[in-house]
Amino acid sequence: MKLAQRVQQLPPYLFARISAVIAEKRAQGVDVISLGIGDPDLPTPPHILEALKQAADVPANHRYPESDGLPEFRRSIAGWYQRRHGVTLDPDKEVVPLIGSKEGIGHLPLCLVDPGDIVLITDPGYPVYEVGTMFVGGEVHRLPLREEDGWLPRLDDVPNAVAERATLLWLNYPNNPTGAVADRAFFEHAVQWARRHDVVIAHDLAYADVAYDGYRPTSILEIDGAMDVAIEFNSLSKAFNMTGWRVGMAVGNREVIDALTRVKSNLDSGIPQAIQAMAMAALEGPLDALDEHNVIYQRRRDRVVEVLRALGLRLEPPKASLYVWARLPEGERNSGEYAQRLIEATGVVVTPGRGYGEAGEGYIRISLTTPDDRLDEALNRLARFARGEQVL
Ligand SMILES: Cc1ncc(COP(=O)(O)O)c(C=O)c1O
Repeated sequence: MKLAQRVQQLPPYLFARISAVIAEKRAQGVDVISLGIGDPDLPTPPHILEALKQAADVPANHRYPESDGLPEFRRSIAGWYQRRHGVTLDPDKEVVPLIGSKEGIGHLPLCLVDPGDIVLITDPGYPVYEVGTMFVGGEVHRLPLREEDGWLPRLDDVPNAVAERATLLWLNYPNNPTGAVADRAFFEHAVQWARRHDVVIAHDLAYADVAYDGYRPTSILEIDGAMDVAIEFNSLSKAFNMTGWRVGMAVGNREVIDALTRVKSNLDSGIPQAIQAMAMAALEGPLDALDEHNVIYQRRRDRVVEVLRALGLRLEPPKASLYVWARLPEGERNSGEYAQRLIEATGVVVTPGRGYGEAGEGYIRISLTTPDDRLDEALNRLARFARGEQVL
């Protein structure tokens, strides 16, 4: 059998590798605690589950959904953007529901990238931006993110020859993995830059509603002129503890939304309608759960920050996202080796920053989605390790 080159060239999916290490340690009898993956541990709120139960009994929901979603779900998304971000969207032209935002992120390059076109991605970054580009024969140009720039890319450093061939720029704030946030001035500059170079911006706002200390993340569509050049991916996964239900959305520039809808209609048959009913219940129902979740994550964040600092790691507490991103102690450079050493000594899994790109080397990422009792146990082990004690 000959596998296609695009499959042969596929880097091992980051979390698959971590899962293999976890399995190996567990097989050795170690009680492994993973702080690796950003998958909320708390259940989906009850009123959202109730909507699923009711929708399951409606025979119309047993049939194929439309790939562009129920019109009432698109209207629900438009209403959400109006209320949360003050952004007005045409639900029939500027909104497309997705089977989780990852689906749309992976498919977008099919709409905008021909072989040889350049896609600008930030490094470190969510791995799907690069893989989606590879799948369509596009060329990736990495924009390194640096701590001293607040993990924002230097768009003015992109060489003109690169900008001329670029068709797509990925941005993601609140950022995975760095936890960094971007202010309006950054988005304004990015929109101007994209208009000047005729590049589409795809802003990934997966962490729109996971924020702390009163901070409210910005939608790029709030910026004047953004609708001309940008689309935004958003998701119910993280905010509503709905990663397992697979529902998200793309909104923004109507030409791009139309292209994505057409691509999707040739590849998938949309989101099960009962799950669209859940999503509507989430977007239109009470939002107390969002604040409650953020209070829990913020408390976990503060404990994680304290213990990591005791380990000699250097970091800024994130204002948003599910991640604490920390620089290795002085003298340490290899994040893979460091993470490996932590697993060996403590059974605690953290994600090596190198897995998100070269510029992530020297950092680790810790996710805040582990239940409190397990997180406490993990942090106790790390604190004992920091004091030089034998842990396992
Ligand atoms: C930055 C970022 N974008 C998108 C996603 C995908 O989320 P979903 O497909 O669940 O909407 C994730 C998931 O971890 C993410 O971290």
